[in-house]
Order: sequence, then C-alpha cells, then structure tokens
Amino acid sequence: MATILIHPDTQSAIRATAERLLQAVQGDHDAVLGLATGGTMEPVYHQLVRRADEARLSFAGVTTFNLDEYVGLAADHPQSYRSTMNRLLFDHVDIPRNQTYLPRGDAQDPSAEAIAYEAAIEAAGGIDLQLLGIGRNGHLGFNEPSSSLASRTRIKKLARSTLEANARFFGAGERMPTHAITMGIGTIMKARKLLMLAMGASKADAVAAALEGPVTAACPASILQFHPDVTVVLDQEAASCLKLRDFYEDIHPGGQEVYFAGNS
Ligand code: F6R
Repeated sequence: MATILIHPDTQSAIRATAERLLQAVQGDHDAVLGLATGGTMEPVYHQLVRRADEARLSFAGVTTFNLDEYVGLAADHPQSYRSTMNRLLFDHVDIPRNQTYLPRGDAQDPSAEAIAYEAAIEAAGGIDLQLLGIGRNGHLGFNEPSSSLASRTRIKKLARSTLEANARFFGAGERMPTHAITMGIGTIMKARKLLMLAMGASKADAVAAALEGPVTAACPASILQFHPDVTVVLDQEAASCLKLRDFYEDIHPGGQEVYFAGNS
C-alpha cells in the first residue's frame, strides 16, 4: 500500500512535501530529482527555496528532470515550464543550469527530442525521487486518460479538461499549446521513489480513483498502486472522497509518518 499522509491543513501538506525534497538532497548531494509544475507545486518550491536557504543546503551536485513541457514554446516563453522552473526554483538555488533538464518545447523534431530526453534520464542513472501532481482527470505529467501504462517520453495531445484547467496561466487572447512532450507512465514508474501531492476539493475524485479505484488507463495515476515506494501527501479536501480515509488516518495520524513492522 502507498503511504498516504492526510494533513490537517494545506500549509502542512506543502511543508511536508518540501521537506521530503529537502531531505532527498540532504541524504544524497548528487540526487537525481524528477520535478513537476502546475499550481500545486508553486508553494512547494517557495517553501523548498526558503528551507534550503535556512539549511544552507547546496544543490550543486543535484540533477533534475521535469515531467513535461509544452510543444511549441521556446525556453524563454514566460509560460514555458522552463521559464516557470527557473523563476520558482533554479534561479534561487546553486544548481548549475546544465544539470536541470526539461524537454525542449521548440525542438525541430519533438519526437526525436522525446527519445533523447528518455535517454538522458537513463544516462543520469535514473530518477531517485519523482515529484508528482495529479490532474482532475487523473493525469500524471501530461499522460491523459487512455495513455499506455507502459508509455515512455513522447508527444501527447492535451485533454479538453487540461486545456481548460491550465488556460488560467495564459493571458487573454494568448494561444495555449495543445500538445506537450511528457515523460510516459512507464518512465515515471521507473523512478525509485514517487511523491505525489494533491490539494483541494477539485482533486478529490481523481485522488480516490487513483488510490482506491481499479488500475486502468482511464485514470493514469491509478498506476501508482503498482509502485513499491510511493508517498501521497493530501490535505483534507483532496482526501475527502477516500473510502478508507479513517484507516489511513489511523496509520498516519495527522499525516505524520509512523514506522512499524508490517506497514507496507
Ligand atoms: C505538470 C504536471 C501536471 C500537473 C497537474 C496538476 O508538470 O505534471 O500533471 O501536476 O496538471 O496541475 P495543478 O497543480 O495546476 O492542479
């Protein structure tokens, strides 16, 4: 069973997620981190930057791979995930920029870029800890429902609900990309540890389907049930549709980790 940590409030869920990223770097100065974007992650990166500064933690040996990038957006486009990551994290820690990887959205040949990205992850020795959000439709990265559960980095068309949800990041009249290069579900599943954060009532159905529903391409995040080391951090609202919520709260009161034999 995944480790499901239901926090008393949103701030505590954000802090706990940032703390795990911090600990991953403290525990291995050469850690390979898989990173995510989206509204959920913005406060996590703010907190991580603050805590890294307090702890005087160096990211000089860290390598990062982001999940995805919009096809058609150059790195310097303000809404590219490259720009977003620079603004939220990379500009504020001492990570060399050439150790931060995102697919190039403006690559001449996006399919070749996807293949090269997958190879770069392999060449770095694979991802130690992959941070994940979840879409309202159960997507992971931009693996929309119906994505192959064995898929590798490739181009995906964005679902209508994803376009609607992400339109808020683009200005009025600005054309939003319709495709992304995204790590596949199979790529994500190769990470040694997964850490998913979901907050708010709009994620409650997707979280319940992912953690308690059948494992199905109709809800790509349901594949997490097959990963041997996954932690899911939730606030109260995101946890509100879980049938076994009481049980998870008994195991981890207040979202705290309590270790005891047999909890797996
Ligand atoms: C983006 C990504 C997406 C988001 C998901 C949730 O890199 O991986 O899967 O995590 O769309 O987005 P927010 O946090 O904006 O609700």
